[in-house]
Amino acid sequence: MSGFPEFKYRNNILYAESVSLQQIAQEFGTPCYVYSRAALTSAYNEFKNAFAQREHLICYAVKANSNLAILNLLAQLGSGFDIVSGGELQRVIKAGGNPQKIVFSGVGKNIDEMRMALSADILCFNVESLAELQALNQLAGKMNKTAPVSLRVNPDVDAKTHPYISTGLKENKFGVPVSEAERIYHCSHEYPHLEFTGLDCHIGSQLTELSPFMQASEKMLNLLDRLQSQGLEIEHLDLGGGLGIRYTNETPPSISDYVSALCASTTHVKQRLLIEPGRSMIGNAGLLLTRTEYLKHTPDRNFAIVDAAMNDLMRPALYDAYHDILSVHQKTDKTLDYQVVGPVCETGDFLGHNRMLSIASGDYLAVMSAGAYGMSMSSNYNTRPRAAEVMVDGDSVHLIRQRETIDQLTASEAILT
Ligand code: LLP
Repeated sequence: MSGFPEFKYRNNILYAESVSLQQIAQEFGTPCYVYSRAALTSAYNEFKNAFAQREHLICYAVKANSNLAILNLLAQLGSGFDIVSGGELQRVIKAGGNPQKIVFSGVGKNIDEMRMALSADILCFNVESLAELQALNQLAGKMNKTAPVSLRVNPDVDAKTHPYISTGLKENKFGVPVSEAERIYHCSHEYPHLEFTGLDCHIGSQLTELSPFMQASEKMLNLLDRLQSQGLEIEHLDLGGGLGIRYTNETPPSISDYVSALCASTTHVKQRLLIEPGRSMIGNAGLLLTRTEYLKHTPDRNFAIVDAAMNDLMRPALYDAYHDILSVHQKTDKTLDYQVVGPVCETGDFLGHNRMLSIASGDYLAVMSAGAYGMSMSSNYNTRPRAAEVMVDGDSVHLIRQRETIDQLTASEAILT
């Protein structure tokens, strides 16, 4: 058993839908990210169905995985998008996304990015400071436009997740405190080129409990009530992303339980509900396929040196994150306790510690749950070309990103003349 519905063993070989990973590795090389179209579609549909009759917009957080094929599939399913840069805006537009379904988050949007988003007529700017609000007001005025805005409120709620990806505490750089937000909405007339259409929060990522979401939602609803009683017309409530996935033995709420809880806590709210899921949409729809180069046995440790490294998947190095590692060819031979490491020259370059595996050099391994924040956080460290990406759809495989070449890596560099 692999525990992933679209990645299962058949005759001891791990498959993505109906294609063996062995075949993918041989045809496209390794390291290679492999995504399942069925898994992505089913996650999106679970979100959509759970909202049932509720007016809503699912804004996929592009940062989780920004491949054009993934954005395009989600756009076709009707998804909106949460972006955090001008680059992500251009990707969404290129992939056929509807600008009227785009929200723009992030603490440091620059003027060029704001201009691009205003020209594209996006749905809303999630503004994170007074200084940003003033800059946007001024720019919109110059462009003869009205910018739709939500303030991103920092509700000061503990998301109980890794500190690097916790964003809703008062000491975090994100959003504005509730009291300041209230003052700003109150003075909305001071910003003639802005229209305050929404209210927004996002408290962190990889949350495995509902309670922090509920606490944040309660604070947001109280604020919304106060704003409405002062006569402010708010059109939507954006509750951010953050739902966790199962990497190993976590037990996060299911997508439908999470959405149902959000809907239940907001039954009296007439506003459209927005959410910004990233990881829960694509995390378990992707894996990183890698080849064992060498086995090395020392008196202390067994090392499986593989061809994927921290530049391909940096979550283990950065957050000490755990990803399941499965043998593509499941063998019944004796297992050994392996440190699964890459070729990069750092001790932090590991994909997994202490994994019981039965492998030989040349064998393929699948690093699971790597669909989110895998490729999108990859780098060229050690001048390593970025991996290829493929999308499996039933029994066919589509190359959705070619493996980078060394020439591409050096193409924009120059030697002094
Ligand atoms: N909305 C905003 C404003 C965000 O900052 C994020 C993620 C999301 C939505 C999506 O959150 P999700 O549903 O994916 O949890 N690199 C880290 C995760 C960083 C998350 C950053 N913000 C990791 O690999 O765990």
